Parts: sequence; structure tokens; C-alpha cells
Amino acid sequence: MENSDWKNLPFGYYKTDYNIRCYYKNGKWSDLEVSSSEHLNIHIAATVLHYGQEAFEGMKAYRCRDGKIRLFRWEENARRLIFSAEGIKMAPLPMELFREAIFRTVALNKKYVPPYGSGATLYIRPVLFGSGADLGVKPSSEYTFIVFVTPVGPYFKGGITPVDTMICRNVDRAAPLGTGIYKVGGNYAASLRAQMTAKEGGYSTVIFLDAREKKYIDECGPANFFGIKDNTYITPKSESILNSITNMSLIALADRMGMKTERRKIPVEELSTFEEAGACGTAAVISPIRKIFDPGENITYEYCKDGKPGKATMMLYNKLTGIQNGDEPDEFGWMTEVEE
Ligand SMILES: Cc1ncc(COP(=O)(O)O)c(C=O)c1O
Repeated sequence: MENSDWKNLPFGYYKTDYNIRCYYKNGKWSDLEVSSSEHLNIHIAATVLHYGQEAFEGMKAYRCRDGKIRLFRWEENARRLIFSAEGIKMAPLPMELFREAIFRTVALNKKYVPPYGSGATLYIRPVLFGSGADLGVKPSSEYTFIVFVTPVGPYFKGGITPVDTMICRNVDRAAPLGTGIYKVGGNYAASLRAQMTAKEGGYSTVIFLDAREKKYIDECGPANFFGIKDNTYITPKSESILNSITNMSLIALADRMGMKTERRKIPVEELSTFEEAGACGTAAVISPIRKIFDPGENITYEYCKDGKPGKATMMLYNKLTGIQNGDEPDEFGWMTEVEE
């Protein structure tokens, strides 16, 4: 993939050369299988198709300043996939098999890892699903694990840009004791109605409130929320949100940079007290929030009044992307080299 226009690649699917598959049958995982096909042969009665028995991960490989390819905190993605698998009663994938599968898929497709400085990355998508044939509602006895990669352009083409968001009061993505803490496909299907309403209103994403009381901030589309005030990084504690690896990294960095950090319930009214607000996740690292419109109360909360992200947001963003790109020392040991 030479002379590619890496900077203008969308966040979308782009064919690469190889993917990896692995199968769980009779209580055992198979060896990894390398494939160059973009298709899978699935049984018509597979539990994934009928009962949504599926979990996935999203992570990135970076071409660093020194020319090496590195992954960011892959162990956390491996652990989260095990947690998600257990949450919907799938056979969990051993950490070591996960590691081998993702590192091999990246190495096999190394020509698609965008160059250092382009802002583009190689997105890695591990997926685990129930592939055994069954009709009753019960966990499958067979599972398939696949990993594919696809190069993605920088999330913000013209540099980090604040986004407008909208609070959603008429759709819940997950129930309090449901599956919101797992990275399972059903949560994303459940969020689409709200996402489309936000898009139609000209908002880039939606802010979900806690499903029980509709009083507290939950998540910001497929990302965690944070607010900043009085030198403090504040992020929601909730029983229905995904534990974002980007968020846990920002908390560690904020702490290292001398900020206070709090993970607690954030009442909607508190939005008026934040100096800065943002959404964080693997795709954009941080999307600074310019506006939050609450149609229920007909209030708009505004941040970045001069149109630019706030100081603390930018410091955190630069520090984390600096570590990922190899421009900053990897003080926490978050990056692992991919042998090419
Ligand atoms: C619902 C949801 N919340 C939060 C995140 C952010 O998590 P991470 O930082 O691990 O990408 C994601 C994306 O993976 C997500 O889908």
C-alpha cells in the first residue's frame, strides 16, 4: 500500500491481505488459521445469528517515531474480551492465544500500518462469537474467534476539533444490571436509534443517561465521558458503561500530571460547572465537547467558547498520543513492539 493518501482514509473497512481464525470445539481451542478470504462460512443456526452471542474489541497498531510497530495496552483488551465472554456465557479466549492472534495479524499485514506522522493507524478488530448450531436459548458449545485489521485515517482530518453532542432521554443503550459493561454487539444495535436521532439533529453523538433514574451521565456514544474543573478529571461511575482503556489511561496521566481524579456519579446539572468536557475512546483518543444540548430541559451547556479545546484536554491528548506514537517516553510500559 505505497503512496497511499493515509491522512484521508476514513474510519471504515479497507481490505488487507490476511486475517486469523481460531475455533473452540469439544472444550478446546484450535491452532490459529491464517486466511486471505474476507468471508466466513457460518451455520444458519449459529447462536450469534439468533441470540447475539458475540463480543468484540477495538485497538490500534502504531508505526512509532523509531520505525517500529507497537500496540497499546493489548493486555487490557485481552482481559476485557474475557470479561465480555464470561458476561454472555461464551468460552473465554486465553490471553496467550489472543496475544498470538493479534500480533500475527498485524505482522502479516505490516505493509498496511500507516507511516509515522500520518496520524493514521492500523485498527485491529478481534471478534468472538457463538458458532455452534442450536435453537434453544442457551450458550453455544462452539465458538469462533477472528481477527482482522484495517488501516484507518486520523479521526480528525483537520486536527483535533470540538464536537457537539445531545443528551438522550428516550433511549437506553443498556439496563443497569444488563450488558452495558461488556463489549457485546447487542449494546451497539440498541444504541443506533439514539445515534441516528442525534445525527439527524446535527449532533455528532449522543450522551446516554443512567437508565434507572435518568439523573446521571452514563456514556457518550461509543466512548466514555469526562469533565474537568478545578484541576480535577471527573468521569462517571456507572453499572452500565464500558470500562474504557483510553479513559483508564487518561486517569493515570492526569494523576501523573498533578491533577486530581474522580470516578463518581455525575448529575446532569453538574455539566454547567465543568470548564472542559470530552469523550474518550480508542477511535479518537479524545473528542473535545463544544456543546451538550439537553432537549428534555431545553438547555445547552457550552465549553470551548473560543472554538478550541481546553488546556487540560489538550495536555492529556498530546501526552497520550505522544506515548502511542513514540514521541514521549513510555513511562507506564503501555506499548509492546510487534516483531516484523
Ligand atoms: C460503548 C463504548 N464505551 C467506551 C469505549 C471506549 O473504550 P476504549 O477506550 O477501550 O476504546 C468504547 C470503544 O471501544 C465503546 O464502544
